[in-house]
Order: sequence, then structure tokens, then C-alpha cells
Amino acid sequence: MEKQALQQLNQAVIAILKTARTHVLSAMGQTLTVAEKTSRKDLVTNVDRSNENFLVQQIRQLDPQAQILAEEGLGDQVTSMAGHVWIVDPIDGTMNFVHQRNHFAMMIGFYNDGIPTLGYIYDVMADKLYAGGPTLGVMLNDQLLPKPADTPLSGGLFGASGPLLIQDRYHMQTIAQESLGPRILGSAGVQISQVLAGELVGYLSYLRPWDFAAGRVLAESLGLVVSQVDGTPVNMLSSGAVLVATKSAQRAILTIVK
Ligand code: IPD
Ligand code: CA
Ligand code: CA
Ligand code: CA
Repeated sequence: MEKQALQQLNQAVIAILKTARTHVLSAMGQTLTVAEKTSRKDLVTNVDRSNENFLVQQIRQLDPQAQILAEEGLGDQVTSMAGHVWIVDPIDGTMNFVHQRNHFAMMIGFYNDGIPTLGYIYDVMADKLYAGGPTLGVMLNDQLLPKPADTPLSGGLFGASGPLLIQDRYHMQTIAQESLGPRILGSAGVQISQVLAGELVGYLSYLRPWDFAAGRVLAESLGLVVSQVDGTPVNMLSSGAVLVATKSAQRAILTIVK
């Protein structure tokens, strides 16, 4: 797509996200309705649903021909990445949203014929919006985000997933040992944004498409690598153990995992 068209789309998505943030903040002043999805550790609230509904409606107005894949099921049944595909996580870190009222994000990824094109991670309480893509560059609010240094695993903090670290899946305890220390926040979006900002050298978690669609666009735009834990490419329509890291940290992690 032409740069000018992308700039217009980008401005429109940023405006949608700012409005969505005000809705979410005002809904937080009212009683939340919380339900369990598959277990007591897998929650959904009225705000996840209402925000997804808002984001999906707004994206439909912006791009009527597109397909929209959204976590809570208010989008389309997407089976192909052909054409315009938007991938939406209305509240990433629902457990944090419910129990901390902090450390959660809204995320949107836009793919054009499968090519990562625009990504948005909005840390709602910190009011930090990471936005952009390979053509536009990545902005953190009004500032252009520099590419993070290619720090090795041994030289930085590692973003872990609580369940994978406890169970030592994918040798996560060894990966954490090799790093300067593990950090667990409970929001894939916020943790990936910390990799973008150079605060973590990598993040590894079992993720669904909406957990990493936005982060992949932003990370690859900044020279970071996004792959499955065995080093093979990610598929935007399936779930798996996904690694977002500096090139050096990825090399070390793949050696530990294999
Ligand atoms: C979850 C969070 C969490 C990650 C889970 C995700 P949700 O997303 O990102 O940090 O470990 O795998 O499902 O369900 O709160 O949007
Ligand atoms: Ca969820
Ligand atoms: Ca999520
Ligand atoms: Ca979610």
C-alpha cells in the first residue's frame, strides 16, 4: 500500500484507540461483569466484549471489505490471510484488568495479503501507544521509537510466561538462568512492548493470533525477530509458543530449546 494511504489509515486507527480508551476508563468506574471461559484462570468481562464490539464496528467502517479476527468472537470466521485482515485483542491481560486494574493493553494488527503492515499496542493505564509498521516506522506516542540494540540473552532481562516458567516448558528455566533474570507481567502486549523498547531482550509465551499479531508487526519493523520457539515462521491463523527477541537473544534461546 502507498505510504499516504497507510498514514491516513494509521491516523484513523489511532483516533479509534483513543476513543476506545476513554470508554474503557469510564467502564472501569462501574461494576464489572466477570465470567470464566475455560477455567478460573481464563476470564472475560463485559468490557472485553463491549470494547471488541466497538473496535470491530469502527474497523468495519474504515475498511468495509476487510476480514476481522477478534478474540471474543464478534468479528469474522477468518480462514485465510488473503486481502485485508485485521486482528483484534480488545483487552490483553484480562486477569490484570480484573485484579490489578492495571497492566493491560488493547491490540490491533493489520495484515495486507499476509504482509505485516500496521500494528498497535496500547497500554491503557500508562497511556503508552506503540503504533506503526515497516513503512511508517514505530512511534511511542509522539516519539519515533529507535531500533533496540541487539543485546544478547546474557546481557538483558527475559520476558517469561508464568505457566511456562513454572512448568519449565521449552527449557524456560534455563533461558531465564542465562539471562539477567526473568520478568513476568501477565500481558503479552505489554511484555512485547517492553521488548520493542529494549527493556527486555526477549519474550516467550504460548500465544493465540490476537496475542502477537500487533506485536509481530511492530517488532519486525524494529529489526527484532518473531518466530515459533523452534525457529520456524509464525502462522497468523494458529496458536503456538511464540518468541519475540533480539537476533542475538533468539540465537541463544533456539540453542537452549533444541
Ligand atoms: C493473555 C495474556 C497473558 C498470556 C496469555 C494470553 P488475554 O491474553 O496476554 O499474558 O500469558 O497467553 O492469553 O486472554 O488476557 O487477552
Ligand atoms: Ca482472553
Ligand atoms: Ca491476549
Ligand atoms: Ca483479550
